[in-house]
Amino acid sequence: MVSNNHLIEAEKITARRFHQITQLLFYIGVAGQWLFVYYIVAFYGGIAMSGEYERVNEQLPHGVIEGDTMGNLMLAVHLGLAAIVTFGGPLQFFPSIRKYFPKFHRWNGRIFYFTAFIITFAGLYMNISRGSHGGGVGFTGNALNATLILWFGVMAWRTAVNKDFVAHRKWAIRAFLMVSGVWFFRVGYGLWILLTAFKMPGTTANLDGPFDIFLSFGHSLVPLMIGEFYLWAKASKSIFVKKRATIAFGVLSLLLAGGIVMLAMIFWLPVL
Ligand code: HEM
Repeated sequence: MVSNNHLIEAEKITARRFHQITQLLFYIGVAGQWLFVYYIVAFYGGIAMSGEYERVNEQLPHGVIEGDTMGNLMLAVHLGLAAIVTFGGPLQFFPSIRKYFPKFHRWNGRIFYFTAFIITFAGLYMNISRGSHGGGVGFTGNALNATLILWFGVMAWRTAVNKDFVAHRKWAIRAFLMVSGVWFFRVGYGLWILLTAFKMPGTTANLDGPFDIFLSFGHSLVPLMIGEFYLWAKASKSIFVKKRATIAFGVLSLLLAGGIVMLAMIFWLPVL
C-alpha cells in the first residue's frame, strides 16, 4: 500500500515539476516578447528618427497612406505605445517585483491597461476605416481580439481595485494573453513555417486561406484556451492531471521557442 507520506511527497514533486515547466514556457514567451520590443523600437523607432516613413510599408499591408492623416496618426499612436505594453506586460508576472516593489506593480499595471486600451481603440479605428488584411474574417478576428482585451482588462483592473487578488490573478493572465494577441499572430505564422518546412499550406497573400482564417481567431482563442488549461491544471489536486499537463507544457515550450526563432529569423532580423 502507498503510504500517506509517499503520496504527499509525490504530490510535491509533481507540483514542483509543473511549476518549473510553466515557468520555462513563461520565460521563453518573455524572451520572444522582448525581441518584439527590440524590433518595434529598432525598426519603427529608427524610421521615426530618420523620417523615412515610406519604409513602414515594407512591413505593413496598409501602413502610411498619403492623405489619410487621421489613419496615419492612429498608426503612429498604435506603434508608439506597442513597445510600452509589450515590455511592461511580462514584468507584472515576476513574483519578486510584486513582492518587493508593489508600488511599481500597481503603477505599471495602470500604465499597461490604459496604454492597451488606447492601442486597441487606435487599432479598431484603423480596422474600421482602412479595412483589414484578410477581409471580413480578418476584421472579425481583430474585433474579437479588441473586445477580449477591453473586457478582460476592465475585469483585471476592477478586481485589483476591489482587492480580490484571487480573481485578479486570473483576469490579469487572460488580459495579458489577449494584449499579446498581435504577437501570437506572428508566432503562429513562424511556427507554421517551421512545422510545414516552409510550405505553409492553407495560407494566401490575402490572408484568406484556411490556416489564415484559423489564425484570425486562433491568435486570441488558442492562447486563451491554454491559459484556462493552465489555471485548471494548477488548481487540480490530481497527480495524473499535473503530470499530463507538465508534458503538454513541455511540448508547448518547444513549439513556442521554434515559432519565435522562425519569426525572428524571417520577419524581424532581415529588416533591422
Ligand atoms: C493591445 C495590443 C496590441 C499591440 C501591442 C499591437 C501592436 C502592433 C504592432 C507592433 C504592429 C506592427 C506589426 C509589425 O510590424 O509586424 C501592429 C499593427 C497593426 N495593428 Fe496592432 N496591436 C495591438 C492590438 C491591436 C488590435 C486590437 C487591433 C484591431 C482591432 C490592431 C490593429 C492593427 C492593425 C490594423 C495593424 C496594421 C496596420 C497596417 O496594416 O497598416 N492591433 N500592431
